[in-house]
Amino acid sequence: MRILVLGGTQFLGRALARLAVAQGHDVTCAARGVSGAAPAEARFVPVDRDDPDGLAPLAGESFDAVVDVTRQVSHARHALAALADKVGHWSFVSTISVYADNTTPGQNAADAPVLAPAPPDVDGPVGPDHRWYGECKVSIERLVRERLGEDGAFICRAGLIVGAEDPSDRFPYWVRRLAAGGEVLAPGRPTDRVQFVDVADLAAWLLHAGSTGLAGTYDGTGPAMSRADLLAGVAAGLGVADPALTWVDQDFLLARDVREWSGERALPLWVRLPEWGGLMDRDARPALDAGLTVRPLSDTVRATRAWMAAEPAAVRQGGLDPADEAAVLAEWQAVRDG
Ligand SMILES: NC(=O)c1ccc[n+]([C@@H]2O[C@H](COP(=O)([O-])OP(=O)(O)OC[C@H]3O[C@@H](n4cnc5c(N)ncnc54)[C@H](OP(=O)(O)O)[C@@H]3O)[C@@H](O)[C@H]2O)c1
Repeated sequence: MRILVLGGTQFLGRALARLAVAQGHDVTCAARGVSGAAPAEARFVPVDRDDPDGLAPLAGESFDAVVDVTRQVSHARHALAALADKVGHWSFVSTISVYADNTTPGQNAADAPVLAPAPPDVDGPVGPDHRWYGECKVSIERLVRERLGEDGAFICRAGLIVGAEDPSDRFPYWVRRLAAGGEVLAPGRPTDRVQFVDVADLAAWLLHAGSTGLAGTYDGTGPAMSRADLLAGVAAGLGVADPALTWVDQDFLLARDVREWSGERALPLWVRLPEWGGLMDRDARPALDAGLTVRPLSDTVRATRAWMAAEPAAVRQGGLDPADEAAVLAEWQAVRDG
């Protein structure tokens, strides 16, 4: 297959390009080269999509498949105008952040309500909290469907993506924390749901979609699991037997300014319930039925750990720091004992 990755210089796009090369495809990555480098084995075409004619270096070329990861509405509009007639299959990597209801578990891409599109004067996410991210992805999904038809493209709403080269502090936090040993603060309840997709599995599914002509709108995420299984699985992947987990009530954590999801003072992959009970508990069955395969968690942990060891400077250091974790655990112990 002759495949064009609009992106390909970091995380998912690069994993996809690398896998496509390994599978014997003819791979072109088009990006600025600011976020990183495309895999050495792929052809790299420098483009700046902020320029409406930025894809001119690809003029006259045709591709069997394109994968676009953009968050900018104008980038998608220009790419569709320049390339849609010359591409056999179009995949757009969207996000579960398009959904309007983050509370209800078990929702399905086929009928879950989505946010309104971004206002006309908003082209991409804004500021550190990425305001308008979901709305911009909704706008891009619409552009893709308008240009290629309801069933003319593969719209893949990725869930939390984890694995090697993860630019976030989310999954790496738990790899680092469980590898460090000692008493581990485990947030919420052991039965709380957690859901994610390995970057390599998502990349493989996007390639599968391109080569089989899969179309339609899907969530790109693996099956949900309990947080107890997540933490046990991370420990097992690290070869840590019987991690010392102390489960701490969510309201106790929130009252002590322990934060959710990611960033400073956060316990990553933890969100307050029931408000966010739908975020990491979506119906993965349609994706699995349509060809998404899910590797064992231990493989994801090993790949993440190997990358963290090989490229420590690239690993984002977020989450609750050890002193703050110890302080919260001591307070929790005192309350329980008192
Ligand atoms: N990480 C998660 O957990 C998560 C969850 C849900 C959905 N997603 C979605 O999954 C996808 C992840 O994609 P990704 O890992 O490849 O990272 P990404 O951050 O979406 O990558 C953006 C790509 O576009 C390129 N780019 C940005 N501005 C450009 C410009 N002006 N001109 C040309 N190229 C430009 C970047 O390369 P240069 O900077 O080198 O130009 C980079 O290769 C995204 O669609 C994201 O929205 C992610």
